[in-house]
Amino acid sequence: MKSNGKEIKRIAVFTSGGDAPGMNAALRAVVRTAAYYDLHVYGILRGYEGMIDGDFILMEKRDVGNIMHRGGTVLKTARSERFMTPEGRKSAYESLRAYDIDACIAIGGNGTFTGATVFTEEYGVPFIGIPGTIDNDLYGTDYTIGFDTAVNTAIQAADKIRDTAESHNRLFFIEVMGRNSGLIALNTAIGAGAGYALIPEKETTIEELVDMLRIAAKRKKLFNLIVVAEGNKTGGAQQVAEEVRKRLDLFDIRVTVIGHMQRGGAPTFHDRVLASRLGQAAVEGLLEGKRNVMVGYVDNKIKFTPLKDAISKVKPPNEQLLRIAEMLAI
Ligand code: F6P
Repeated sequence: MKSNGKEIKRIAVFTSGGDAPGMNAALRAVVRTAAYYDLHVYGILRGYEGMIDGDFILMEKRDVGNIMHRGGTVLKTARSERFMTPEGRKSAYESLRAYDIDACIAIGGNGTFTGATVFTEEYGVPFIGIPGTIDNDLYGTDYTIGFDTAVNTAIQAADKIRDTAESHNRLFFIEVMGRNSGLIALNTAIGAGAGYALIPEKETTIEELVDMLRIAAKRKKLFNLIVVAEGNKTGGAQQVAEEVRKRLDLFDIRVTVIGHMQRGGAPTFHDRVLASRLGQAAVEGLLEGKRNVMVGYVDNKIKFTPLKDAISKVKPPNEQLLRIAEMLAI
């Protein structure tokens, strides 16, 4: 496999892991930038699954028309168990050889880049990662593609829940996604003016929460929204609600899990432009000789971070956001 940047002639691009709004915009940018530099681009269907099965399609400029505004991913995606096995990765390498691919561009999150790192070590195929996940949990970029849209969706849902919560004087626990990260929850809580956010990065015990709620009840604040990150250490929304019910009977409690609704829908302006910038920079990075890095956006600038760091280093939540959530609480 060629490794010199100047020799890159044929690239493959795929989306993998959980889909995220803006993945199509990133694909469009990759295909069109590649066309600009006269590269051949193959789209791989269903992420690593399609790489293993040799499901490749040649993509030209016109093939990515009319997808900028669409959520999901036209290349489809998957979480591949087979790619975690040496046999699966061997088949994937054979497929890349069969199409004479010089380098891959992977649009995905932590699992996708973990797979890429193992694969590049075994087979030396150059990779560039584009961060596409609603969780925003990758080190080396201020924002991942899809995060902004997901938070906007969660805020819209929380606004609607607020109407009914206020009308009935109810306490709602709203669960948002974020397997190991509270960034969706923290930003949703601030944006929706919720009473509190329970996030894995900053543990709040049930007792602390109950104390806060007791004080709120004393002030006759019986309606409230508490945003719970899926990965919260004291449990998801349902579990937290049950624990609070056991200790307090002052509130009429309900639970809403927003779930996969957060992953769908048309990407926001922010995600479309971010995806376009990252897609273009990924191809140019490859041509400049960048290898096994994730292209990110830090302090308004494109930045390349080794894939290994992107998946292993922790991106701490913004300190000011944590303080805002605390100060504006219940
Ligand atoms: O990684 C993105 C994400 O949406 C997480 O927030 C969530 O925990 C997970 O994917 C859900 O995955 P699946 O769609 O495979 O159930």
